Amino acid sequence: MTEIVRAGVEERLMKLRLGAVAQRLDGILSQAARTEPTFLDFLDQILTEETEAKQKKRVAMGIQIAHFPAVKTLEEFDFKFQPSIDHKLVRELATGRFIAGAENVLMFGPPGVGKTHLAIALGRAAVEAGHSVLFVTATSLLAALSRAQVEGKLADQIAFYAKPKLLVVDELGYLPLEKQTAHLFFQLVSRRYERGSMLITTNQTITQWGHVFGDEMIASAVLDRVLHHSHVLVIQGDSFRLRQKKRAGLLGSNKTNH
Ligand SMILES: Nc1ncnc2c1ncn2[C@@H]1O[C@H](COP(=O)(O)OP(=O)(O)OP(=O)(O)O)[C@@H](O)[C@H]1O
Ligand SMILES: [Mg+2]
Repeated sequence: MTEIVRAGVEERLMKLRLGAVAQRLDGILSQAARTEPTFLDFLDQILTEETEAKQKKRVAMGIQIAHFPAVKTLEEFDFKFQPSIDHKLVRELATGRFIAGAENVLMFGPPGVGKTHLAIALGRAAVEAGHSVLFVTATSLLAALSRAQVEGKLADQIAFYAKPKLLVVDELGYLPLEKQTAHLFFQLVSRRYERGSMLITTNQTITQWGHVFGDEMIASAVLDRVLHHSHVLVIQGDSFRLRQKKRAGLLGSNKTNH
């Protein structure tokens, strides 16, 4: 009899998509027999178990969809090494609240100071907070938009990049853009403006954006939209990549590039 009820419970759990509890039903039941929790505690325990399993699965899926190039977290980031970073702002951004308001994040800084690291870490935090995220480098984003334009599929491609709640664009300005490509970027920014957040990392200062975009008008139209509702992180400091080499005395003590 108990076996029949147990099989029925398992079936109903599966129907209700409570797979984590269904899977661990025997363990849960024998633990309850041992500890004899109150009905309320028992209910709380199984619901917590299912909720946590679902959240874990959702985060794992969101991280896969985001296409982060590496695993980087805020816990791994050494803020002491980069004292110019506004730690409080980073912590605030990690809550993902800026995404609810479709606000942007602009990260400026020379090579190796941790822009990509922080962009990935904040992207992961956004996924954990329940937002859809996509990570792209500016080069691959613009190549995809240019290709789509040639193939007559630009609208679809812009719609694809407009969809995630947070679009991370890494390494903007590392290569100067053709005017036509710059215009494609403007179209995407314009489409996302006040609808979805962008997190952009760049090694160029704002004054150099005219050169990056090959056109002052496009640069200022992009900047105007991106900066309107935005948080700016300026990172000034030494390259983390070179710190070990510096320690080993391979390089002088002056700031060094790649
Ligand atoms: N403060 C830090 N604490 C821990 N690791 C760091 C820190 N800063 C950078 N790193 C690590 O150093 C490496 C280089 O950092 P990252 O790629 O984020 O630099 P970047 O600013 O994006 O440079 P680039 O402009 O060349 O792309 C990465 O492996 C990153 O995880
Ligand atoms: Mg980088």
